[in-house]
Amino acid sequence: MSISPEHREFCASKNLDADGIPQHVAIIMDGNGRWAAERGQQRVFGHMNGVNAVRSAVEAALRSGVRYLTLYAFSTENWSRPKEEVEALMDLLVSTLVKEVSDLEGKGVRLRAMGDLTALPEACQAEINKSIESTKNLDSLDLILALNYSSKWELVEATKQLMKSGLDPDDLEASHIDAHLASAGIPDPELMIRTSGEHRISNFMLWQLAYAEFHFTPVLWPDFGQEDFYDAVRDYQNRDRRFGGLLDTNHTMSKQG
Ligand code: IPE
Ligand code: IPE
Ligand code: MG
Repeated sequence: MSISPEHREFCASKNLDADGIPQHVAIIMDGNGRWAAERGQQRVFGHMNGVNAVRSAVEAALRSGVRYLTLYAFSTENWSRPKEEVEALMDLLVSTLVKEVSDLEGKGVRLRAMGDLTALPEACQAEINKSIESTKNLDSLDLILALNYSSKWELVEATKQLMKSGLDPDDLEASHIDAHLASAGIPDPELMIRTSGEHRISNFMLWQLAYAEFHFTPVLWPDFGQEDFYDAVRDYQNRDRRFGGLLDTNHTMSKQG
């Protein structure tokens, strides 16, 4: 995709390299419960305020030219939370989609989902499918919600499909696994952000993050703003990505000054 002068100017104003923006950023949105507890409120209050941070992340992704943004919204393990919290999260998902989708559409955002949606309440499934359908031709940003998602679930599903496909095990290649993941067709994230100071991956995109750079911030998710997103991208741009090889000469020389 060509980079417009406005986009270059915006990146320069944020001290970002317009030619080195990650194509795909994945975020583990964590810390809603602690954010609420700090205010003497119920956990659900944190989730409700987390929606503001989702808006900020989407806006920052659009402005900086990120093409895919994946948000970990509900893990397969999150079903083990109290029933009231799970119900509140599902209700919040529906009400947020109802409120926000026309705005997302206006911005050219294509909504997608990855995870086992069939286990979600029917009202959720219906609203998600409606939003996916109404935004399917948009192409400024793909916003991928990981819902009832976990990496081990996804890898087990992919393995089942491959075993049923009749493929000779000796012919199995990494690309076959890629093609059977919930993220099939989407490039791997170059940058993974986790908020709230936790330094773990919690069953999120284990395969796809094989060579991603990780950015951990103590900021609790409801406080995560656009500047935090640009901080993460700057951090990413200062890393040396090696992919198991050696640094390219130009890069090494520029690093040595
Ligand atoms: C992240 O915040 C939101 C979801 C997992 C749905 P948490 O609810 O995990 O908040 P903490 O980690 O308890 O603070
Ligand atoms: C990861 O956060 C899942 C989501 C952000 C949806 P958790 O809060 O559930 O993860 P753990 O339990 O701290 O590892
Ligand atoms: Mg958490």
